[in-house]
Amino acid sequence: DTKQQALFIIFGGTGDLAKRKLYPSLFELYKKGFLRDNFAVIGTARRPWTDEYFQEVVREAVTAEHESEEDVANFAQHFYYQSHNVNDTEHYVTLRKLAQQLDQKYHIGGNRLFYLAMSPRFFGTIAKHLKSQHIVTDNGYNRLIIEKPFGHDLTSAKELNNAIGSYFTEKSVFRIDHYLGKEMIQNIAAVRFGNNLFRSLWNNRYIDNIQITLSEALGVEERAGYYETAGALRDMVQNHILQIVSLLTMNMPASYTESDIRREKLDALKALQVYTPEQVKNNFVRAQYTGTNELKGYRQEEKIADDSRTETFVAGKLFVNNENFAGVPIYIRTGKRLAKKTTRIDIVFKDIPKNIFGSAKLGKNILTIIVEPKGEIYLQMNVKQIGQDFGLQVQKMDLLQVKDNKVQIPEAYEKLILDALRGNATNFTHWEEVAYSWKFVDAIRSTWDQQQDSLAEYASGSMGPKVADDLLVRDGHKWVFTV
Ligand code: BG6
Repeated sequence: DTKQQALFIIFGGTGDLAKRKLYPSLFELYKKGFLRDNFAVIGTARRPWTDEYFQEVVREAVTAEHESEEDVANFAQHFYYQSHNVNDTEHYVTLRKLAQQLDQKYHIGGNRLFYLAMSPRFFGTIAKHLKSQHIVTDNGYNRLIIEKPFGHDLTSAKELNNAIGSYFTEKSVFRIDHYLGKEMIQNIAAVRFGNNLFRSLWNNRYIDNIQITLSEALGVEERAGYYETAGALRDMVQNHILQIVSLLTMNMPASYTESDIRREKLDALKALQVYTPEQVKNNFVRAQYTGTNELKGYRQEEKIADDSRTETFVAGKLFVNNENFAGVPIYIRTGKRLAKKTTRIDIVFKDIPKNIFGSAKLGKNILTIIVEPKGEIYLQMNVKQIGQDFGLQVQKMDLLQVKDNKVQIPEAYEKLILDALRGNATNFTHWEEVAYSWKFVDAIRSTWDQQQDSLAEYASGSMGPKVADDLLVRDGHKWVFTV
């Protein structure tokens, strides 16, 4: 199971994602021996690059001070470039020939991974041509890895899914949600189902509320074109946040396997309460960042319309109405240009029914899972204050601290690409999960589209608008994480 044989064909091979994430991840797999002699990569995109130039780009993408030059050079030799117009059938003929040639040269045995890292509007035509021009093989596996966004609402997602589904079975489609490849997100299942302590308490009898924060310090950067059509709700909630919600609220799977986990995650997403327009108004807020002396406001960013109404921040309260979580508010928030890059989950437990300590105030038990900036899990507890008198104090118990240089955490993409090579789709998103997520998101989006005045503002570098805090305050809660 360790050494893999595969030919990668990357559509969008000159793009940012390929350079920043895919090539470095493939290099890690190469250094660890998962990919060695029997693999090759064809990068395709419109630009007329040569193999030499492409290899140079790949070398640059993976070179770092501590890397051996020899490893880098040997790795880059497995890369080939094919200039390609996705609508031109002739180009697929050339691609097929190159693929056959490389398959023989590297003794790959027909295994192919088609990686679609470009605009989804081309996915259908690519899938079709891969099939009709026989780039899919008979003697190995053929898997399609797809980057987000998977549509921009349920209708377009269905169309996209049908277009792909005519040529590739659901089992061979791997929809990437890179959050599912993150070590600390995978820790949710370990903590929940590996400890009777938490397994027993993980329900509406003991949990008061759940808080999920995915905050970013960066602004829209160079992605104006995409972001203007997406906004924070589609960019982060439909995929990453709802996936996290499903992992937190699903019932215990019969086993830690792809099919059992999928079934439970899907059931959790089905139990998501889809809001009426009135409920959307009460439970979801959106906002856009404004400028400060140092930082530009969203509308002042390059290629953003100066009257843009795209939200760069979303906060909301949602409910998963299954047996264990009905009634537990799940507060979520995400946004760009916030105070800090943080990804964290706070599980706030209910107060003890009776405080026997008189006037001493008891702190809440809170289990915190921090995904970024570095992996941490801690539990907040009440303990005795050391000393002659009886007093209480709140202590944070460290359950896990991933120290920066002690263990190396594999990058999400590295883990997910290896999973795809092994045919393990546990940490990829199934079509039905995508569909239920869109259903939930569409209800919010369509209400907002008819409600021009619901866009608030927040200053760059803050933790979002006041309305996001009010969502909790009116329930008698507050965000555990503040800056
Ligand atoms: C992507 C979004 O899916 O996730 C980006 O499109 C966002 O807008 C990114 O910046 C955040 O990912 P991470 O791994 O940096 O938390």
